[in-house]
Amino acid sequence: MKHLFTPYELMGLSLKNRVVMPPMCQYSVTEKDGIANDWHYTHYVSRAIGGAGLIIIEMTDVEPDGRITDYDLGLWSDEQIPALARIVEACHKYGAKVGIQIAHAGRKAEDAAVPVAPSAIPFDENSKTPRELTTEEVKKTVQKFGEAVRRAVLAGVDVIEIHGAHGYLIHQFHSPLTNKRTDEYGSDLTKFGKEVIQAAKKEMPATMPLIMRISAIEYVENGYGLNESMSISNEYKEAGVDLFHISAGGEGPIAAEGRPGTHVAYQVPLARAVREQLDVPVIAVGRLDEPSLANAVIGNEEADLVAVGRGMLRNPYWTLEAATALRKEIQLPKQYQFGFPNR
Ligand SMILES: Cc1cc2nc3c(=O)[nH]c(=O)nc-3n(C[C@H](O)[C@H](O)[C@H](O)COP(=O)(O)O)c2cc1C
Repeated sequence: MKHLFTPYELMGLSLKNRVVMPPMCQYSVTEKDGIANDWHYTHYVSRAIGGAGLIIIEMTDVEPDGRITDYDLGLWSDEQIPALARIVEACHKYGAKVGIQIAHAGRKAEDAAVPVAPSAIPFDENSKTPRELTTEEVKKTVQKFGEAVRRAVLAGVDVIEIHGAHGYLIHQFHSPLTNKRTDEYGSDLTKFGKEVIQAAKKEMPATMPLIMRISAIEYVENGYGLNESMSISNEYKEAGVDLFHISAGGEGPIAAEGRPGTHVAYQVPLARAVREQLDVPVIAVGRLDEPSLANAVIGNEEADLVAVGRGMLRNPYWTLEAATALRKEIQLPKQYQFGFPNR
C-alpha cells in the first residue's frame, strides 16, 4: 500500500518520497537581472535538508517582460545558469530532486511598460492593457520557452514544469475569455501550449519527465470548467506532458459563484478527476499541510504526489516532521537528530 514516503519513479526521475515543494515566487532578485542569489540558495537548500523529495523552483521567466515583477527569476540568458546550478547541486547533495517552473506572465507582467498577451484584454480595471502579440512574436515566444528549458537542463535540473496555470501566458492562450485572436493561435486555443511543450521536449533528455501545471477550473464569470480543461489537458498530454500539477483559478477577478471553498484539500477532487479520466500521474496541491491528510491523498490513490506550499514556507522541515508524525522511515540529517527525540 502506497503512502507519502513510498519512493516514486517516473521515466528517469526517481524520488525518495512523494512530498513536493511547489513553485512559489520569492520576488527576491535584488539586481533585477533574473539571477538567483543567496536568498534563493538558502530557501531551496533548506527544504532539501528538510527532506522534500522534489523541489520545484519558482516561476522563472523566458524574457524580462515575461516576469510578474522585476524581482523574479529568469532564464533568458546563459548568465543566469550558474546561480541555479549551484542551488541544484546543493539540493542534490541533500537528497532532493529539483524541477523548475518555466513561465511567461503575459498580461500579468506588472512591471512591464506594456505587457503582451494573446489579445489586448486587461486582467481587471486596475491593470495595464496588454499589447496583442503578432503571429511572428508568438512563434518567437515558443522558441524562448525552448531556450529557457535548454538552460534549465544545463543547470542540472531533474524535471521541467511548464506553467500553464493561474492566468499566465499559456493559460491566456487556451482560455476562450482571453484569446480572441483571428490567426492560427486563435482558431486552435491550445496551439501555443502544445508548441511550447514540443519545444521544451526537444531540449530535454528523453528520460526526463515534463510536468505541466494547469488551472483545472477558472474562477471568473463564465470561466471554463472541468470538462473543458479535461480536453485541454488531453491535448497537452498528447503533445508530450508526462505529469500534471493540478491547480485552479488565477485568470481574472473571481466571480461570486466562482469563489473557491476554503476547505482543506479543496483541489484534490480536480487532481483525482484528471488522474482517472486521462490516465496520467498527477500532483495534488492546495491546503494539504496536515500530514495525515497528505498521506491519505496518496493512500487513497487520488494523486501520485502531494505538494505543500505555504506549509513549507512556515516550516522548511515539514517533510521530516510529517514522517515523524506518521511514523514513517526517513533519513534525518545527523546534525538534527536530537531535534526528533521521539523517533
Ligand atoms: C508566496 C507564494 C508564491 C507562489 N508562487 C507561485 C509560482 O511561482 N508558481 C505557481 O504555479 N504557483 C505559485 N504559488 C501557488 C503555490 O504553488 C500553491 O499552489 C498554493 O500556495 C496552494 O498550495 P498550499 O495550500 O500548499 O500553499 C505561490 C503561492 C505562494 C503562497
